[in-house]
Amino acid sequence: MKTFLFAKFVAAAAACLLTFGTAQASGGAGLQAANVSLDNVASMQRGARLFFNYCSGCHSLQYLRYSRIAEDLHLDPKDVEKNLVFTGVKVGEHANSHMPPADGTKWFGKAPPDLSLEARSKGSDWIYTYLKSFYLDPTRPLGWNNTLFANASMPNPLWELQGLQVAVPKAAEGGHEAGIERLDLRTPGRQTPEQFDQTVRDITAFLQYAAEPAALQRESMGVWVLLYLALFTFIAYLLKHEFWKDVH
Ligand code: HEC
Repeated sequence: MKTFLFAKFVAAAAACLLTFGTAQASGGAGLQAANVSLDNVASMQRGARLFFNYCSGCHSLQYLRYSRIAEDLHLDPKDVEKNLVFTGVKVGEHANSHMPPADGTKWFGKAPPDLSLEARSKGSDWIYTYLKSFYLDPTRPLGWNNTLFANASMPNPLWELQGLQVAVPKAAEGGHEAGIERLDLRTPGRQTPEQFDQTVRDITAFLQYAAEPAALQRESMGVWVLLYLALFTFIAYLLKHEFWKDVH
């Protein structure tokens, strides 16, 4: 029994360390904190809707089935099939994009990559900052550039919501332009900057979930392990009390 309890304790401690570890890993220079939480199902639900409306025309989530999204995010599979599946497939299929990679290369110079594992490879702060860092740049083929990902071939998919940003250059030193000081919102979009932050946070949360759907289940399991431990500590305390009553 003792070893069993000890094993449970080690598992719980390891789970805490892991959660802490992933939270720490996403920091980095020049990145804004996404502050996404896999506990916030409403945020991931909104993110799913935004992703399929604004991103899935170009990007796939090839490892994820629509039915899995419905189950994990507590959505009705019928609603998912009606509102999120734009490719005409059944809800049990994978979330592939309509766009053939060859067309992507032709139109954008580069095929839009699959985003299933994006949150794992780049981290959520990177995605969050990237989606907020588009600005108008007439020297680029599609008229867009990005301060985090210079010369990205992706046009800003959220410009109607965010509005149009322009780059304010740093004061030139010695005749050379010294990069970008900041981005200014030249034309407001349909959302206020605060609303837009939330929109981007929701999309990022959804991609964070998509990169590791099992994490949702693992986290809810962790809560039970901790509750179980708490209950056991309480019972042990009662027992100790009971035994020592006669000694005193
Ligand atoms: C019109 C097509 C198009 C749409 C719509 C679009 N993207 Fe992209 N996206 C691209 C292309 C093309 C690239 C490749 C950019 C490059 O490597 O130069 C890209 C790259 C990315 C990357 C960087 C991948 C990497 O690590 O190199 C992320 C993240 C991303 N897109 C997220 C999104 C999200 C989120 C949305 C929806 C809000 C979205 N994209 C909508 C075309 C699109």
